[in-house]
Amino acid sequence: MRKITANDPEIKSVDILVENIQGLRALFPEAMTEEKVDFEVLKQLLGGMVDEREEKYGLNWHGKRRARQLALMPSTGTLRPRPEDSVEWDTTKNLMIEGENLEVLKLLQKSYSNMVKLIYIDPPYNTGKDFVYTDDFRDNIKNYQRLTGQVDDGGRRMTSHTESSGRFHTDWLNMMYPRLKLARNLLREDGVIFVSIDEIEYAKLRFICDEIFGEENHIADFVWYNKRGGGNDAKHVAVEHEYVVFYAKSKTDLNALFVPYAPTYLSRYKEQDETGKYFWDTFKRKSGKQYYAITCPDGTILEQDDLGNPLSWLRSEKRFKEDLISGEARIIKVGEKWSVQFKQRLPEGKKPRTIFLEDSIWKEHSTSRDGNQEMLEMFSRNVFDNPKPVALLNHIISFSLEKDDLVLDFFAGSGTTGHAVMAQNAADGGNRRYILVQLPEPLDPANDNQKIAADFCDRLGKPRNIAELTKERLRRAARKIQSEFPDYMGDLGFRVFTLDSSNIRAWKPDRENLEQTLLDHLEHIKEGRSELDILYELVLKFGLDLCASTETCTIAGKTVYAIGGGVLLACLESSILRDDVEPLALGIIEWHRVLAPVGETICVFRDSAFADDVAKFHLTAILREYGLNNVRSL
Ligand SMILES: C[S@@+](CC[C@H](N)C(=O)[O-])C[C@H]1O[C@@H](n2cnc3c(N)ncnc32)[C@H](O)[C@@H]1O
Repeated sequence: MRKITANDPEIKSVDILVENIQGLRALFPEAMTEEKVDFEVLKQLLGGMVDEREEKYGLNWHGKRRARQLALMPSTGTLRPRPEDSVEWDTTKNLMIEGENLEVLKLLQKSYSNMVKLIYIDPPYNTGKDFVYTDDFRDNIKNYQRLTGQVDDGGRRMTSHTESSGRFHTDWLNMMYPRLKLARNLLREDGVIFVSIDEIEYAKLRFICDEIFGEENHIADFVWYNKRGGGNDAKHVAVEHEYVVFYAKSKTDLNALFVPYAPTYLSRYKEQDETGKYFWDTFKRKSGKQYYAITCPDGTILEQDDLGNPLSWLRSEKRFKEDLISGEARIIKVGEKWSVQFKQRLPEGKKPRTIFLEDSIWKEHSTSRDGNQEMLEMFSRNVFDNPKPVALLNHIISFSLEKDDLVLDFFAGSGTTGHAVMAQNAADGGNRRYILVQLPEPLDPANDNQKIAADFCDRLGKPRNIAELTKERLRRAARKIQSEFPDYMGDLGFRVFTLDSSNIRAWKPDRENLEQTLLDHLEHIKEGRSELDILYELVLKFGLDLCASTETCTIAGKTVYAIGGGVLLACLESSILRDDVEPLALGIIEWHRVLAPVGETICVFRDSAFADDVAKFHLTAILREYGLNNVRSL
């Protein structure tokens, strides 16, 4: 039984650096010497493709190299489950994660890489008033805890980010770069990313996205005409728009995009045959140049109109004859006159337009309200500045998602993306899922801009931070959707997880007192961590879905968990005596047989639970005998 430790690669988030090296090794084994890369050999192997010029095209800034490294450093944190804060914990497939998104993105790599179809983010625009998180290279979890007031301040904190800092764009780029890099890994090959931004960082965002996603994968920049009128306080020009920058992970893998038709448009297509929907439209075309005579069933010849002008038709004579035979065209009597008609087929869809005008977005989603108004309606007070309108997200979702796709927003704010996903599912019966990530950014009642929101948290009896607003918005949105669609039975819940340090204590030997260190490490689960905490750390670190089904079974008086239909079986009880071993092992084997999971099962036990090594050895031996070979302790 192999023991899982805090330093075990399995228990850490994905080590992207190691994966990159492995990739290089697979492609260029000659350029690898033991664990290092021989650049001279690599250069030779790449021939003329190496760019050695000192002045290179691209965007550079102070800290770029560090930002790159940040994305590569594995996380030692974990996500702790919060069923008490969740809605429909047992059944929901949606996730709301409270935490600093760089760490969270790292932790999600094992479970969700190549799984996400759509990422939408609305990061801080760097206006000078919003806050830009400064990553602490050395210890992200500590930094996160300091930020969220969990440990003494004294270090860096969220800052109102002023231009006078001299690092205005640099800090923003350092913040965005590693997050976008990690986000890309989570996208499916046909995945897409949309980033809301205004003119302050638009140009820089395009540069880093070109670098991270590839210029060839840029699809479009949408211009969202979001501020009509006003703006006369601007010195030079009133800005009435912002952008939504749109990249694919791989343009060649992305199917054509279509905006679904509005119901009013669809209502014309009343007929249907095996090819699809259509309506009978007139074949006569005023502007056409295809003149020929058409003979009707009773011999009438249609060649001229009532004024004696030659009649022109939609298609060539040859094509018309073919259409008549195939049933795509017909000649029928309408009243006293003959009418030539063709099947006007429903086109595959409308292409999304680069300008998001109010009319094109709001009308189709039958709302003209903005995000502030929507929040005001739900909360009766302004708890969040400038949330995006649900309709903006619905519009993006409408042309880029299928009904079962997974959506990620790691700057969730008030949770508009989650709201939009639920609303869209309720409207069209889809099963789209969302993952939202939001920092528990503190709300200060002494700050005029945050007072309303801080007071609101007090009234809810919740800690004063933005993540509490996100969760409350999701709860209220779910109730609203349920009242609008009373028969709707779909998923309106979400599982809450919070970022924290690992449940497993790292091995830190006290050289002066090794004996005590050894005794302390007999139990290497941190105090105050629950069975569920440990269980979900295993789920995350073994790369399973945090919403995978969880079943429990009492076997020989011990609780055993089966995750994902039995892919992971865990018994985290604190005591397993010699007498427990046989009934426990045989019960697990029997349950495993009933569950019949696809693929190999990992069985995990708490190391300190075993009465002695004999008990441990015996349990492993019985499980192995029945084919459960991957048995681990923790
Ligand atoms: C512009 S708002 C997003 C608004 C959102 N689209 C909406 O409609 O409500 C950006 C959000 O990102 C959050 N944020 C900033 N840095 C973060 C980080 N490092 N990790 C997680 N959340 C962060 C901020 O607290 C803020 O709520």
